[in-house]
Amino acid sequence: MSASAAWRTHRCGDLRAGNIGESVTLCGWAANRRDHGGVFFVDLRDRAGIVQLIADEDAPAEAGQIMGGLSAEDVIQVQGKVRPRITGQKNEDRATGEVEVLVESVRVLSHSEPKLPFQVLDDLDAPETLRMKHRYLDLRRTPMKQLMELRSRANHSIRTTLQERDFLEVETPMLTRSTPEGARDYLVPSRVKPGSWYALPQSPQVFKQLCMVGGLDRYFQIARCMRDEDLRADRQPEFTQLDLEMSFVTEEDVYALVEDVVVALYQDVLGREIAQPFERMPYTEAIEKYASDKPDLRIPIEIVDLAGPGGQLGFVVYDKVLERGGWVRGFRVPAGASLSRKQIDSIEQSAKDAGAGGAAWCKVTADGSTGPLSRFLEGDPGQAFLAALGAESGDLVVTIADSPRRALVALDAVRRKAAELTDMVGEADRLVWITEFPLFEESDEGEWHPAHHPFTSPVLEDVDALAAGQKEGVRSRAYDLVLNGVELGSGSIRIHDRDLQQTLFSAIGIPPAEAQVRFTHLLEAFRYGAPPHGGFAIGLDRLYAEMFEAESIRDVIAFPKTASAMCPLTEAPAPVDDEQLSELGLALDLQEADAPEPNSSH
Ligand code: AMO
Repeated sequence: MSASAAWRTHRCGDLRAGNIGESVTLCGWAANRRDHGGVFFVDLRDRAGIVQLIADEDAPAEAGQIMGGLSAEDVIQVQGKVRPRITGQKNEDRATGEVEVLVESVRVLSHSEPKLPFQVLDDLDAPETLRMKHRYLDLRRTPMKQLMELRSRANHSIRTTLQERDFLEVETPMLTRSTPEGARDYLVPSRVKPGSWYALPQSPQVFKQLCMVGGLDRYFQIARCMRDEDLRADRQPEFTQLDLEMSFVTEEDVYALVEDVVVALYQDVLGREIAQPFERMPYTEAIEKYASDKPDLRIPIEIVDLAGPGGQLGFVVYDKVLERGGWVRGFRVPAGASLSRKQIDSIEQSAKDAGAGGAAWCKVTADGSTGPLSRFLEGDPGQAFLAALGAESGDLVVTIADSPRRALVALDAVRRKAAELTDMVGEADRLVWITEFPLFEESDEGEWHPAHHPFTSPVLEDVDALAAGQKEGVRSRAYDLVLNGVELGSGSIRIHDRDLQQTLFSAIGIPPAEAQVRFTHLLEAFRYGAPPHGGFAIGLDRLYAEMFEAESIRDVIAFPKTASAMCPLTEAPAPVDDEQLSELGLALDLQEADAPEPNSSH
């Protein structure tokens, strides 16, 4: 790519042996300076790479002087001549390593403080919040720059694939009404209508459906979503989705389209082939075999229901749980008997961390078993128990007995932990569609919520049951895409019928009058000809973090937030002036503990 001739003729990283003899003007950051007895070397860095500058006895004295006085990260403009490096001085590891630029003149465009918050080093070991506070320095490092480049290429690939298929890129509003996606809204007060609030979108869900009612047929957007929820390692308060929606489609059409996008993405950005069609697994099978609706299929461990054989052992813990309708389930860890006591303790701990009482285990030997569970495994019932697990000599057996809700979380955790300890996580990426989700799920408090969101269509045969008030067992037309145990995206075929939408709102406790207020725009639109439609959204930060093997989703986001939803760079969120508050008709009533620090304002 050619650079603007006014400031520079080339970018630093673009110079090659083919440029030898050319006069060039370069701009960039002084990355590394060395003084070899009056011969000055500077590594000049820009986004394209690094080239070595030299001011030796052939360079004007003034140029040498300026070079010698540079601080790391000073921004300079250099004019000079490209020449070959002498034999033995070539740098094989650098694309520009065959050449150097003999400096004729140097101009300092901007000084950097000599003391930096951290050195701009590729293998930097600095606290992440410090990197986030000075993200502009962090982004100069090669690994971060590469992640930004990969992300940009990936977004380009997505746009190309979708535009080739006649999708329209439509921008939907940021200042809007609440779209329920299961999190709290970020609210923005209105100045012109004091006491009224916009909600920032948790997703463009309703607007993309309105695009379908608007006849746009195929919509996509690389959309920013805002959710005020408890943050975990793979969550950000604001994140990016590839959001899409299509009219007159079935699940199959959506699967095929999303697969095309993902396959092209891997091919374009990583040059990697992904086999199509992706695997599929019904939700109930994922729960039975892997205790998770986002199973990591790289782990070859399957969970077994041990209610039958477990109930024959005379083990009071199992008996009590089974009496209360709980689960006794477990799995064999092939060759897991070689794990140390400390490692097995860490498996038990992962069950406890997941909320279960613990895990009961044993090691299987040629003539029986050892470990806490072994004393219940004597005789035929014990044999039958081990046979149900398919356990062999040299295996470790891990079981969980608890309420279904807690057992599910714990089984998933111990399965992942056991696989990690035995190095059993396969190399190849495993993408899988999880299909046939239930329409509702029950919360800890016994309330029923949409498992996906309230716009998801029930399976046609279950509509009558839904209308009759049934929740449990009602199936939905929702699907998820899972990669290596990470939920990449979700979607569904939607409701496009006003009455059915009303039924659904009522089923989740939103009475018609309230639905009319909160979702009038959607319900109204459904009165004027709504096409059957469906779609999907991929969490791009998560997908890119997986694809680019980044350490966290924060590393694929230019300006991320911390786990407490703070931006160390801008110090957002921050207090505002009283004047701004009064313009908005707002007054604060903070408890002392909640009041912001006076000096955190800016
Ligand atoms: P859902 O809520 O499942 O579906 O979101 C889709 C995907 O977005 C990603 N994601 C997140 N990524 C980072 N930080 C977060 N806080 C976060 N929350 C979600 C996940 C998730 O799978 N409107 C529907 C889609 C549809 O039905 O078409 C929706 O938003 O990867």
